[in-house]
Order: sequence, then structure tokens, then C-alpha cells
Amino acid sequence: IQISPFVAGLPKVELHLHIEGTLEPELKFELARRNGIELAHSTAEEVQASYAFDDLPSFLTAYYDGMNVLQTSEDFTDLAMAYFRRVAEQNVRHVEMFFDPQAHTSRGVSFDAVITGLRRAQIEAERQFGITSALIMCFLRDFQAEYAMATLLESLRYREWILGVGLDSDENGNPPAKFAEVFARAKAEGYLLTMHCDVDIPGSIEHIRQVIEEIGVARIDHGTNIVENPELLSVIVERGIGLTSCPISNTWVSDGSKVELVKRLAEAGVKITLNSDDPAYFGGYIAENFQRVADEGGVDEAFLAQLSRNAVDISWAPAVLKAQLR
Ligand code: HPA
Ligand code: ZN
Repeated sequence: IQISPFVAGLPKVELHLHIEGTLEPELKFELARRNGIELAHSTAEEVQASYAFDDLPSFLTAYYDGMNVLQTSEDFTDLAMAYFRRVAEQNVRHVEMFFDPQAHTSRGVSFDAVITGLRRAQIEAERQFGITSALIMCFLRDFQAEYAMATLLESLRYREWILGVGLDSDENGNPPAKFAEVFARAKAEGYLLTMHCDVDIPGSIEHIRQVIEEIGVARIDHGTNIVENPELLSVIVERGIGLTSCPISNTWVSDGSKVELVKRLAEAGVKITLNSDDPAYFGGYIAENFQRVADEGGVDEAFLAQLSRNAVDISWAPAVLKAQLR
């Protein structure tokens, strides 16, 4: 994918990025060596070839498997610094990144190692690259709500380092309402709320209804099929609830990029944004996602600039920082 000078130069804000999904094969090998872990593959080509997902569960298997090399606080710093270094070259200015503490605590890595490692990288990235960032803690929806609640309570020691909470992993059979109590508590603790509503799962519109009416999210991650429901659509337009769409990710885990839906939703007045989701696995960082929309959607530069401004509008950055990002 060839990035145009306009897309390359556009100032960018990323709101849907799983930091664990930025683990490139080269760093995976290095961390495996450092931590004495045997990997199934020995070249980047072999690793790439093993990424043959055709739906969310097949992606998630590779994604969780890849995380085993992340063991120490330093590993998380190295992971996030590699991401920041890479997107500094794409003119990314601000990132609100997801992390999945349960994907680590469930295999014996401490919450403290994860968050101190990420925190160190955030401070260093602002110093080195001028990129500001925030953390959004995601709960894994295929685990029990009790485990999410325990994770939420554990996070309170680091309350000021975490801006919001989200919900990810396998949505099928794991509706938003399963986590209503956890999110109500998170809200009471001052966390901002978002949740994944993946496209193409059974009951998707009902899940979108729940996140809006029962959970009270400020944003929805993916959620582009809200276009099928004019009533819910008008609610998110009125309330300014934005969507974080991930075109290249969609081509792997659903049936196509959904670029046409991005255009329709923008036209309907929805604050929709473009993001990379899991760039090391899906083969595209945020610039590649903008370029994908430009190439496939045949949209003009003003449209791309509007999507970029939408991300500033719906970001959770403080007002002073937002003014600088505009
Ligand atoms: N969907 C759901 N869970 C995830 C994803 C995703 O795209 N990436 C990482 N966890
Ligand atoms: Zn995601």
C-alpha cells in the first residue's frame, strides 16, 4: 500500500489501538530470546504466513498466543516504544491505547509489570517524539464478570494512570449487559467508558443498543452496523457518541473493510474515526488505514481531514491538549 504525501502528512490521533496487537515478529523473537521462550516459528515470514485468520476467534488465538513473550515490565516498555517510534513517522500526535491486563495476569504476569512498563513508555514517547497518550484498560468479555470486577478493583491503585475502560475479545455470547455492574462501578470511580461492538456477530444491533442505553458509553469501538438502525443512529448523532472504525482489521475479521459504511455514517453526521486495531497482525498502521479509505472509497482530502478532526473531537484528551491537536 502506497501512502500519499497528503495521508502521510495528516496529523493523526489514534483511538482504537490494542498495544499488544503492535507486537511485530522481530520484537517477538527478541523477547523470546531474552525470556528463554521457545517459539513455533523462526522467521518473520513464517510468522506472517501463520496469520491466516478469517474471523475474530482465529485472530484472537494468534493474538493471545503471541503475548507469551511479554513477561517483564521492560518488555511492555519495549513493546510500546516500538509502536510509538513507528507511528511518530506517520505524524501521530496523540494515542488513547487499549491494554488487556487479564491477558497477562491470567498467565502469571503481574498487573504492576504491565502498567509500569506501559507508563514508562508513555513518558518517554512524549519526551522523544512529542506524542501524548492515555491508557484504556479493556476487560476480556469471554472471561467471567467477577474477574473483570477483580481487575477493576486492582486497577484502582493506579487510578490516575488509566483514563477509561473498554471491553474486547470474543463478543459472540458475551453481550455488554454481562458487564453492566463492572462498568457502573468503573464510572463511579471516574473512568470513561467505551466498548467493542464488533460487526457481523449475531445480535449485534441489540449489543449496540445495550452499550448506548444500559452502559452509557462515550464511544463505541467498531459498531458501524448501527447504520442499519435509524433510531440508534440518531441517538449517537445527537449525543455525539463517536465510532472508532478499523478498515484493514475489518477485512480480516469480518466481510470487508466497511469503507462504504464509514462514508454513509460520516454523511449522517456521526463522529467516525479511522484506526489500526492490531497493526502487527493486520498489516497496517493508521496511515495505511487512511490510505485504504482513500483508495477504496474514492474520497477527497477534505473527507480524510474531517475524519482526522473527528478523532480530536471524540478523544478524551483534556481541553487544552485538544486545542493543540486541532
Ligand atoms: N476485537 C475484539 N477483541 C480484540 C480485538 C478486536 O479487534 N483486538 C484485540 N482484542
Ligand atoms: Zn479492537
